[in-house]
Amino acid sequence: MLDYDAATSRRIEQTYTTPDVVEQRAQVLAALALRPGERVLDIGSGPGLLAWQMAAAVGADGRIDGIDPSESMLSLAAARDDVRVGAAPVVFRRGDTESIPLPDASVDVAVATQVLEYVADIPRALAEMYRVLRPGGRVLVLDTDWESVVWHSRDPGRMARVLTAWEAHLADPYLPRRLGSELRRAGFDVDRAFVWPLLNVGYVAQTYSGGLIELVAAFIGNRGHTEGEAWAADLCSLGEDYFFSLNRYLFCATKPV
Ligand SMILES: C[S@@+](CC[C@H](N)C(=O)[O-])C[C@H]1O[C@@H](n2cnc3c(N)ncnc32)[C@H](O)[C@@H]1O
Repeated sequence: MLDYDAATSRRIEQTYTTPDVVEQRAQVLAALALRPGERVLDIGSGPGLLAWQMAAAVGADGRIDGIDPSESMLSLAAARDDVRVGAAPVVFRRGDTESIPLPDASVDVAVATQVLEYVADIPRALAEMYRVLRPGGRVLVLDTDWESVVWHSRDPGRMARVLTAWEAHLADPYLPRRLGSELRRAGFDVDRAFVWPLLNVGYVAQTYSGGLIELVAAFIGNRGHTEGEAWAADLCSLGEDYFFSLNRYLFCATKPV
């Protein structure tokens, strides 16, 4: 799977500051409808962009806990200077969703955006989220289904080979289609599911897919795939003919009282 070392973590941070992902975070925040004073757990908090925004939303009486197994990601998150006056305290620590370092029923909201698709044991991860949530607590899970990708290329055969090699960066590149049933099996009531498409028409480097090209090429190159450079050069030269679309799926659920 993807190794969240310093270089990869910085690349991810870059793509997550593009307007595409800024808008995706706004959708997540709207769906969460955080209330003042809430305690929120951000699982796989990555570069910390969502955590600091949630801190502003819950205010000084709230609290945000971010957990992530990657030291590089934890450093990026802790170094953010997004602290706003009146925001909740934010604590980032090393942790894994399969064994969350928090007591039972200790949080109001648990969030995992672009994380569960990296996790091998989904029932265990959801059982942990269920355990740390208080009764009536809410969970939001967002993941990508890589079968939803439409990425135009001059060489469709090469594109298919690159995307197949890239799928190895996840435990389950098609997780969203089973998220609803996994959440229900874990005991949650699923309140809402919706899709958020990312769309880039015309090549622009400072977009989600513009950054993704570099990530994909580096990942498959490290695994001995030889087509990454030519694949990337083709995409970057498409100009106005460039086209990328990919779906994120969001599930909002509640732990019954
Ligand atoms: C694609 S990044 C998403 C970061 C962040 N959630 C966001 O949306 O901005 C995935 C993150 O999940 C973390 N991660 C991977 N496996 C994990 C696990 N088993 N438990 C918790 N976090 C994990 C990675 O270290 C990385 O920071």
